[in-house]
Amino acid sequence: MTSKPILRVLSGESVWPPPVWLMRQAGRHLPEYRATRAEAGSFMQLCFNPELAAEVTLQPVRRYGVDAAILFSDILIVPWAMGQGLTFAEGEGPRLPPITDRAGVDRLDVAGAAARAAPIMETVRRVRADLDANHPNTTLIGFAGSPWTVACYMVEGKGGGEFKHARRMIHTDPALFGALVAKLEEATLAYLLAQADAGAEVLMLFDSWAGQLAPNAFRKWVIEPTKRLRAAIAAARPGLPVIGFPRLAGPMLAEYAAATGVQAVGMDTAMNPAWAATQVPGHVALQGNLDPEVLIAGGAALQGEVESILAAMRGRPFIFNLGHGVEIPTPPEHVVRLIEILRAA
Ligand code: CP3
Repeated sequence: MTSKPILRVLSGESVWPPPVWLMRQAGRHLPEYRATRAEAGSFMQLCFNPELAAEVTLQPVRRYGVDAAILFSDILIVPWAMGQGLTFAEGEGPRLPPITDRAGVDRLDVAGAAARAAPIMETVRRVRADLDANHPNTTLIGFAGSPWTVACYMVEGKGGGEFKHARRMIHTDPALFGALVAKLEEATLAYLLAQADAGAEVLMLFDSWAGQLAPNAFRKWVIEPTKRLRAAIAAARPGLPVIGFPRLAGPMLAEYAAATGVQAVGMDTAMNPAWAATQVPGHVALQGNLDPEVLIAGGAALQGEVESILAAMRGRPFIFNLGHGVEIPTPPEHVVRLIEILRAA
């Protein structure tokens, strides 16, 4: 029996007050993150420095007492590890040389990816050792991007748009897109299992651009790859829980929750938690979904929105989170207030 609240929720228990962590809890809203990132030099150098990456992973645990630490890394580390170039231009987000043809897919090196991602596993080991020693009720979450969302960046070469090249390719050249997704699935599975072996207790799949797809494409490129990955994880590491986050899935969230075999689904900001409470199967936990802008506002807005989410989630296996990542202007004292409200719930 575990006493870690997040693991209890993921085994189907309704823990109240609900445990909480925040997407992008380690990041630029924290002065101590900005200092460590400056020391590392760049975002990529921070990701590949196990000592500093472990430090920023633990910063929100120490400051806020959140119930989970999420590995500090990025979903684009998998394409980088397969040999696709990746840079983070200051203030512009990620840039990759776009994959447009078979040669681009063929060049991706799945076998070599594990060695290139090895420093990330060292971060996981360090974080887990610190949690075991100093924060015994805090759960370590490892993660990867889902094949669809990572493929969006690989085909488009950047974010910030509607990923029209990827959305077109699934219809104009499904064989090419399928070959890309197959390689991604293989590399992502190995990457996630390596995190589990290094000490991650939960795995989360970020599918930030799931909401770009029409229902049939959603089934083929979001639900099916997630279901295959989830089954492969279950076969290799029985009992390891998985959280899926098909952002902006709308009503497809219910089908995703029922079909993929994940233990929890993340609700994005636009999701109505009262709808999710009735439509998502009761054995699947829910996670979310405070609007990150409300956390910036604080005050009565924060109090009211938190209460309304809690009212919809009472009695469910539920993990409090935001509907998307913490924004840079978020005052840390508002996060402190949020945790106080939740601990008193
Ligand atoms: O949640 C956490 O605290 C763990 C670490 C984490 C990061 N990115 C750190 C990061 C996680 C889980 C991610 C996931 C991620 N990365 C997603 C899925 C979740 C989502 O936000 O939808 C996506 C789409 C990415 C790709 C990505 N990484 C983009 C588009 C950007 C640029 C955006 C920006 O704000 O600059 C990143 C960079 C990034 N990843 C930062 C952090 C803290 C900012 C880097 C910096 O310090 O300059």
